[in-house]
Formats: sequence, structure tokens, C-alpha cells
Amino acid sequence: MKIAVIGSNMVDLISYIDRMPNPGETIEAPDFSLGCGGKGANQAVAAAKCGADVMMLTKVGSDLFGKNTIENLNNFGIDTSCCEMVDGMSSGVAPIFVDKNSQNSILIIKGANKELKPCDIDKAADKLKECKLIVLQLEISLETVYYAIAFGKKHGISVLLNPAPADPNLDLDKIKDCEFFVPNESELATLTKMPVDNDEQVLEAANFLIKAGIKNVIVTMGSRGSMLVNAQGVTKVPCFKVKAIDTTGAGDAFIGSFSDSYVKTLDIVHSMKVGSAFAALSVTKRGTQKSYPEPSEVQAFLEANS
Ligand code: RIB
Repeated sequence: MKIAVIGSNMVDLISYIDRMPNPGETIEAPDFSLGCGGKGANQAVAAAKCGADVMMLTKVGSDLFGKNTIENLNNFGIDTSCCEMVDGMSSGVAPIFVDKNSQNSILIIKGANKELKPCDIDKAADKLKECKLIVLQLEISLETVYYAIAFGKKHGISVLLNPAPADPNLDLDKIKDCEFFVPNESELATLTKMPVDNDEQVLEAANFLIKAGIKNVIVTMGSRGSMLVNAQGVTKVPCFKVKAIDTTGAGDAFIGSFSDSYVKTLDIVHSMKVGSAFAALSVTKRGTQKSYPEPSEVQAFLEANS
């Protein structure tokens, strides 16, 4: 059961800070970590770590980061035969600041990710047609995202869209054919322009998307767990309580692990639980992909917390 991730890669430059400097001020930060990231690559790595057969469509720059990014994906057993290096462009990079409360603030510079075009989907069509699920985020052009959704519909492949980072220009009409739409609360608010301050409001906003045609909306709500809304009703999955050190990439961890479990079981609620466990373990360590747990750790964690 193959999963295709069509999306971004970034090099994460993570500074662990006591506070942000004021304009014109220089302050020392206690720690720094360099790692592979990008929402697409993170989701691909999370799924592959869970045991999925993953292929990735992404573009890297012809700088010192590009080769390393593809090597990193290869090391996780991800099929990179449709990944390309763009001559003369820099790779995507993400300066990230993690504060003392383990919360992150992220800047992204897309670089070569901007060059992933609809024609790249056509080039990879034969391989993509072997996939059961296409996973998308919004760190590549919207044109490519819409094309991938239409490709999925045409070839009977389910599509999961994680609308991150939030884009107010996302066209609801062009995403309504997604099987899964997986925003966090603020992304849900941006798209629906509705309040999401409590569970009732989240449900109302998610139902707005269901009425527009999306089959399943899964809202990730951090420490408040996740909520599945579809034509059958609403199901809340609580989150696992852990001591968070660094929440960077936790949403991607959930999506990658959920995708692996879903293509294997077709059980949405069970897959949300597995995704929550994988994401919970990831926030107990520093870094993005570096923090993703081994399947045996997830299994033991689920057994201990069921
Ligand atoms: O979701 C976390 C990711 O967002 C980071 O890895 C960073 O690269 C940005 O894409």
C-alpha cells in the first residue's frame, strides 16, 4: 500500500531561546540544532518510520543542503526517484525558534520548493497511480496542490490535505474532493473565517467543510486532542499526556503516522489514536524528524496508555 507525499522539504535551523530579541538588540540563545524538516518531508519520514512504503515528489536546491536532503529521505527507505535538484536555486530553509514553553515560531523560505509544478505530477504519473493515498501540504504552489487533488480524483486515489501553513487564498471548491482535510484550529479558522475557540465552534466550522463536499475533516487541537467530523457525526480522540520539550513537527508526525495506519487498516479513529501516540512521543524530544519515535516505542506507549 504505497503512500505518495507531494510536498516540501526544508533545512530546519532551530534556535532554543529564552526570549525573542527586540528590534536592534542582540542576545544569546542557549542552544541550536540543525536538522532535516519541511512539512512534506516530515510527513514522509513519519510514515516511513511507521513502516509505510513511501514515495516523495519534491525539489531541492543545488546548494550544500540539496544532496543531503535526498540522502536523508533515502536513509528512511523513501523512494526518491521523483525528487529533483533545481540548478541555481537554494534549498528551502526554516529558521525556527523554540521558547521555554516548548512552543515554536517558524519562518519558511521556500527556495526550490516553489519549482514543484503540475508537470512534475504528470512526469511521475505512472508511479503515483500505484499509490493508495496522496498526502499534500501548502508549502508548495497552490496550483500544484490543486492539480494533485484533481489527479487523485481522476485516478481513484484518496487525497489527504494538511492546509499548513494556513493560506487564506485556498479555494474551497478546488479542495472539496479530498478524502481527508487535516487542519489545526487556526488553519480551520483561516479557511472557514469562523471562530474556533471551543469544541462546539470547531465542530460548526468543520461541518461547514463537510457540507462543501470534503468527506472527513480531522482537526488537530494539540493538548485538546483531535476531532473527526464526517457525515456519520463527530468523534473526539483525546491526546496523550506527556512532558513536551519541543513541539516542532508534531502535526506532521500525526499525519505521517495516521496515513501509514489508515492505508493498512482503513480505520480512521484507530489511526487517529496511533497518530496521537506517535506525535506525543515526538514532542518529548528535540528536533523535527530527529524526534520521531521507533515503531516499537509507539507500540509500548500505546500498550502502557490504553
Ligand atoms: O511543521 C514543522 C515544519 O514546518 C518544520 O520542519 C519546518 O521546516 C516547517 O516546514
